[in-house]
Formats: sequence, C-alpha cells, structure tokens
Amino acid sequence: MIPHTVIEDLKARLDLVDVVSSYVTLQRSGSNLRGLCPFHSERSPSFTVFTGGDPHFYCFGCGAGGDVVSFIMRIENLDYPAAIEFLAKRAGVTLPESAGEQERGVGRKRILEMNVCAARFFRDMLEDPSVGRPGRDYIEERQLPRAIVRRFGLGYAPDSFGMLHDHLKKNGFTDEEMTVGYCCGVSRKSGKPYDLFRGRLMIPIIDVTGAIIAFGGRILGDPQPDKNGNKPPKYLNSSDTPAFKKGRSVFALNFAKSKCEERLILCEGYMDVIMLHAAGFENAVASLGTAFTAEHARLMKKYTSHVVIAYDSDGAGQNATNKALPILAEAGVDARVLSMQGAKDPDEYIKKFGAAKFNEILNGSRPRFEYRLDAILAEHPIADPTEKIKASAALCAEIAQVSSSVERDIYIARAAEALSADPKSVKSDVESLIRRRRKQEKAARPGELVRAGMGLSDRVNPDFAKQPRSAHIEEALLGLLLLRREYRTLAVDGSPLEEEELPTELGRRIFSAVQAGEEAGGFDFGMLNESFTQDEVSRIMRMYGERMQLTENGPEVFTEFLRALRAENDKKRDGNADDYLYFIRKKREQNKTAP
Ligand code: UTP
Ligand code: MN
Repeated sequence: MIPHTVIEDLKARLDLVDVVSSYVTLQRSGSNLRGLCPFHSERSPSFTVFTGGDPHFYCFGCGAGGDVVSFIMRIENLDYPAAIEFLAKRAGVTLPESAGEQERGVGRKRILEMNVCAARFFRDMLEDPSVGRPGRDYIEERQLPRAIVRRFGLGYAPDSFGMLHDHLKKNGFTDEEMTVGYCCGVSRKSGKPYDLFRGRLMIPIIDVTGAIIAFGGRILGDPQPDKNGNKPPKYLNSSDTPAFKKGRSVFALNFAKSKCEERLILCEGYMDVIMLHAAGFENAVASLGTAFTAEHARLMKKYTSHVVIAYDSDGAGQNATNKALPILAEAGVDARVLSMQGAKDPDEYIKKFGAAKFNEILNGSRPRFEYRLDAILAEHPIADPTEKIKASAALCAEIAQVSSSVERDIYIARAAEALSADPKSVKSDVESLIRRRRKQEKAARPGELVRAGMGLSDRVNPDFAKQPRSAHIEEALLGLLLLRREYRTLAVDGSPLEEEELPTELGRRIFSAVQAGEEAGGFDFGMLNESFTQDEVSRIMRMYGERMQLTENGPEVFTEFLRALRAENDKKRDGNADDYLYFIRKKREQNKTAP
C-alpha cells in the first residue's frame, strides 16, 4: 500500500477541477461543474464534478465516478501506482522511492527493467553465430529486412529451459520477479522456474512511452503437436502482469503515434504490422491477441480520428471488423474498412502485390456504411423477395444508427438505389426505426436504473439481487458512513454497525476498507483505487453522491437505517428457523405415515 500520508499530501496539491479541465470542458452548474463525459459518448453533459465534501466526479449517464486518482486511472489507462506517479509528476511531488511498489511485491518498474534486460538477451541470441541460426533463418523466410528487425527490436528465444533465467539471475533479478513478469513459469514437479519463451522469434511490445511492457513470441514455422497431441500456440504472449494489461495495449503505437494524423491502419497481427512498417506504412498498429476493446479505441483516438481496419479477409476477420466498427464510432473515430482481394492479410498482400498496390486499396477503403452495404447485399441476394426484405431491414437499421441527418439522407439514397426501392419508403422506414428506438430509450432509462438499483443484472454487486431489501438499506448506510465517518462508532441500541451485519460481499469489503482507512489515520477515497475495480469505485461514489445530495444525513437517519437492516436480518433468521421447523415437522409426519 502507498502510505496514506503520501496520497493525502499529493491530493492536497491537486485540484480535481483543474485536473479534469485538462481533458473535459467544464461549465458551472449550481455549486458543481458539468461537461460532456469523456468515458461514454453523449451530447448533453451528464458528467459532474462535485467540489463540496470530498471532491469527486460522477457521470449520471454511464455511472463512472471516483476521485482524482480514479479519473486519471480511467482516462490515462493507468493502474493505481502508475496513476499516483502520473499525478505526482503533475503536482511536482517526489514520491518516496517506489512507495507503491515495496509492499506490492514485484512492481511495474522492476518488470520494465527486467524486460529491457530480456529484450537485449533475445537480440544478442539472435545475433549469436551458433545459437541464433534458426531465428535468422525464419526472419529470412518471412522476408523481414534487417532495418526493421532492428527497429522493432526483434530477437530470438533459444530453445532452452534455462538460458533466459540464468541471464536474468546474473543481472540481479529474482525468481519471483521473473515469474510475476512472465519471463519464467514454475515447474509443478520441481517448483523450479523455467523459461516460458523457447525457440521463438521474440517481439517486444512497447507502449507509447517507449517502455517494453511485454513480449509476443512467434513459433518458428508451423506449430507441431507434441507426443500427447497438444499443439503449442503459434504466438505466445505475456499474460497480464503489473506492467501489462492485454485489452489496453496497441502494438506499434509507439512508432505510429507520430505518423497517424491522416489515419491509423489497424491490423490483426504482429506480422502484418511489421511487414507494413517495412513497406513504409509506419502508421500500422494491431490490437493484440484479444478482441478490440473500447480502451483500444480510446487510446487510438488520442492520436488520430481516422482508422482504417485491415483485418484478415477471412470470415473471422470480417466478424471482428463488424465488432470493431461500432466501438470505434463510439469513441468518436471515423473508421473505414480496407477490402483486400487475393490475399488473406496485409503481410501476404504486400508480398504478393507490393506497397504501391496496397496504398491504392488503402485510399479506396470504404466508410462504414459502404462496407456494411456490400456485406449486407452479399448476405442477402435481393433477387429473392424475402431476402430483399431482410436486406432492406438490415440497411435501415444500419442507417438509423447514424446521428447526422444529412449523412442519413445520403445513405438512404444509396440504399434505395442498391435495393431499387423508392427512397421515400426507405426514409420512412428509417424514421420509424429511429422513433421506435427513441421511445425505447426513454422507457428503458428509468427502467434500467431501477433494474440496476434492484440489483437485477447487477454485475458490480452480484449479491444485490439475492436480498434487494437489505441491499438497498446497505447502500444507504454505506453512503452515510462515507459521508460521516464518525458513524462507524455510533452505537445503535447498544452496538455500532458491524461488518457481518451487511448483506453483500461488496458492502462488507467497503465497510472494512473504511474501517482500515480510519484506523490508518483517516479514510480517503483514493485508497479505494487499490483494492476495488473501477466499476466498484463508481458504485461507491454513487452511494456517497446520492447521500450527499440529500439534506437529511444526521445520526438519526443512520440509526433508522441500521434498525431497519437489523429487522431485515432478524426476519431472515426467523425465516430460516421457520424453514427448519417446517422441515422437522414434515419429517415427523413422514415417519408417522411410514409403515
Ligand atoms: P494469425 O494466425 O492471423 O497470425 O493471428 P498472423 O499475424 O497472420 O501470423 P503469421 O503471419 O502466421 O505469423 C493474428 C494475431 O492473433 C494473435 C497474434 O496477435 C496474431 O498476430 N494470435 C494468434 C495469438 O495471440 N496467439 C495465437 O496462437 C495465434
Ligand atoms: Mn499472417
């Protein structure tokens, strides 16, 4: 844990409004400030910064909330210690030497140092006359120019269980650091560490600050089944470590970020990106291994508003394209789709047809609607009347999602032409879809809130639904407690609130965090970021914010809620007793009637 005093000192030097204002344009609204939420797309501001009490933010649209640290964690995609470091830099505060990392076991900083050491080792092995031979042969086979190999820092992991381990050890890294940092695994039999990357072409994954956060390793040639018939993965990637979160990293963005004002090229794989860079397209990146996420989109949006999706031309690639399109649109990125004929991916395309030809298809990449139009028409051949109805419905649904009416009219004309239908009827279909959706949205809004409040489909607090009544009371109690920490010791009918009285696991964790914080010298919302997810922090801020907006928050309110909770708990106990008695009676009756 980062010492409480450090965070307190840091937060005292930071003005939440000031920090938020570097990302969001805020306008005064009553005693608070409002702006367009940076965490979801909206047209009317529901993102609010509360300056009274503990300064915090909350978005009434998407529910994101927290303190200045949460804000930075979310918007800069940082984990807790990194966010503290970021803010310390901003405030001009020097943190005590790796304050956050000591107790956290192996810290991010150490892993980054180890990755540098490992990357050098892999590079040296690649160049080693005898050891690196297979790696060099593979590089030649893939036609990767030397300059690009050097630029990307590619290397070779020798086919050995211990060479990397020994090298890292010699350089002062511990076994724990190696396993936490995903350089080594631990043998289940001997408990000894062994190298995870063996006999692979090594690709360092570098973030926008230039740090090597992880590795991808390509097997040389095709994966071959072992004697048990198990195939190794073609690419082995570092799993999540304190330095690496998969769904957040965009490969090669460190190179592309200064070359992408016009556009970024988003590929599926490492090799596509490397090949594109070799061919002069230094604006190529890839989201790695996982599905494309909103976090990927947000990270890309920081550097450009234009992305061309160049996923594989196979079915899987096209599916992934359809999924990425709305995510990019949501992030405010204008996305286009590349159409590649005669090759399965950009790597193959460049080798087959050359860079000039690739540039041509790049310039011919189609906007989302055009791409969807072709895909829909390919799926539903309109010569068949029922297929034509399906195609029309799918197209109208697509158009209804466009917010600009001018743009919609253009698409309506295009769709009508493609369907050989009357533009007027297409337009009226689209408009009725939009009307219907608006109505649904209006109806769903309160409904959704009620549902979330009731805890149905509540992912953040799954226990909520099991006992919604006591869980509601719990939220009120915790909200009050966060507002007035002194209620922690307020005796009601002889005893203060205790952790075991709370009905949900999340509630109990919140309570114990407040307890621990108070005991450590004073609870601070910043402490939550360490042991709660951002969704959980948002939920906590909601509890707090809701109470803060009410005028009645005195000890008598707390007393009343605590009594109500205890009454619920008593009922539950009686309920169980009833069940038990019923069960016994039933058993007795059965015994009586039995022969
Ligand atoms: P592909 O199988 O399409 O690989 O996976 P590729 O990029 O064309 O690779 P080459 O040309 O055969 O070398 C696309 C991406 O999916 C991830 C990698 O990021 C890869 O680049 N992947 C694939 C994995 O993470 N693990 C795997 O086992 C396979
Ligand atoms: Mn490929």
